[in-house]
Amino acid sequence: MKREKLIKKYNICVVGAGHVGLVAAAGFADLGHKVICVDNNKARIAALKKNIMPFYEPDMEELVKKNFKAGTLAFSPSLDEGIKKSRVIFIAVGTPPLPDGSADLTAIENVAMCVAKNLDSHKVIVEKSTVPVQTGQRLKETIKRYKNNDVEFDVVSNPEFLREGKAVYDFFYPDRLVIGAESARAKAIMQEIYSPIKTEFVFTDINTAELIKHASNSFLATKISFINSVSRVCDLAGADVDKVALAMGLDKRIGPQFLNAGIGYGGFCFPKDVEAFTFISKKLGYDFGILKEVKKVNDEQRSHFVNKIKERLWVLKGKKIAVLGLSFKPDTDDMRFAPSEDIVNLLAQEGAALSLYDPKAKAEAQELFKGKNIIFAKDSYTAVKGADCVCFLTEWGEFKKLDFVKVKKMMQHALLADGRNMLDKAQMIKLGFEYIGMGR
Ligand code: UDX
Repeated sequence: MKREKLIKKYNICVVGAGHVGLVAAAGFADLGHKVICVDNNKARIAALKKNIMPFYEPDMEELVKKNFKAGTLAFSPSLDEGIKKSRVIFIAVGTPPLPDGSADLTAIENVAMCVAKNLDSHKVIVEKSTVPVQTGQRLKETIKRYKNNDVEFDVVSNPEFLREGKAVYDFFYPDRLVIGAESARAKAIMQEIYSPIKTEFVFTDINTAELIKHASNSFLATKISFINSVSRVCDLAGADVDKVALAMGLDKRIGPQFLNAGIGYGGFCFPKDVEAFTFISKKLGYDFGILKEVKKVNDEQRSHFVNKIKERLWVLKGKKIAVLGLSFKPDTDDMRFAPSEDIVNLLAQEGAALSLYDPKAKAEAQELFKGKNIIFAKDSYTAVKGADCVCFLTEWGEFKKLDFVKVKKMMQHALLADGRNMLDKAQMIKLGFEYIGMGR
């Protein structure tokens, strides 16, 4: 798809070289802006300067390399330098969950204080990370409190909706751009920054923009937990959740996406965002009961999956179980809050002999399961050798292409536990496998 012309070039600082920040930095540079991406992780910045990526994301490496070489994308460990050089500062730092379900906003406050210190001309400070509603107001107050001149500034909320594994595509082709801006100047600058991107712009106040992000992610998580609950009833009633989802999705008011039943959602967004929205709603005076149930259903899917295997294999102690797919979804090496973490831990607790394989997340998984008696196989076939059961926990494309005749021959007992409903059930049964699905 063709891009529109860039109306005006800006000096942009992106704070945070994580999944959101790095893609946005490279994306803005590619749109024609001059970008400096800063991160306080010095090793990460040093590696990026040598074109070594901190994580795997399709097409990101090429985009970073291309713009770094062209001189439109630079990296620095210095927040002061980034802010001084830029008119617009995008905050894409982490807001990790605290034990009580609230979000840790220390990194955001730190950026606000640094902006206040370096505010020598008008700047726009944009929240890109997911933050609790009203964080923008706090940002404004903090900058006002710590700056020591009368230079003006604007705070904007521009929530990011990109999906890991499709982040580069989502940056250039978003379904919509949400811009919470409270001055005509800030609104115009944001429009100019994104001018090459053809999509619907939704302009709101800052609180509303922040709430759009909460509501969107929580709604998608609700859709997943809803279909997972339906899958439980399908199991009990002898119905097929895939067909239920297909027919439901054909209703335009429902839509087909996010109706894949399975072991539930993971990743750094949904689990954290559902909790954060529940927490902030309560703080504001509303008990968001639906979201508590969404989390409960999601957590239960993992133990439900392990129970299904136990029903078939009876005693798990000493049984060899191969686990294919560990990342929270395909096309990423991200293991944060991945359903595989709970499932592997539950299987290990039962004393199963585990052999794990993931196309990209091996290093992350090795770190996560350090100290556990787990084997990491070099490929799927090595993992399944002698197995009593093969679990599929991430729907990587390469698993669908496995030679299942060979897989069956290599296994000790031909049981497949398909946590993502990714295999052709009828075909697997025809090949002689016992098959466990989620609501089918
Ligand atoms: C999500 C949002 O989609 C994105 O807009 C936001 O910016 C960040 O959070 P992401 O976490 O990258 O993106 O992954 P997504 O593709 O949304 O999947 C999240 C989780 O839900 C994965 O674990 C996935 O396996 C699971 N999922 C998704 C299901 O279990 N069923 C589905 O039908 C869809």
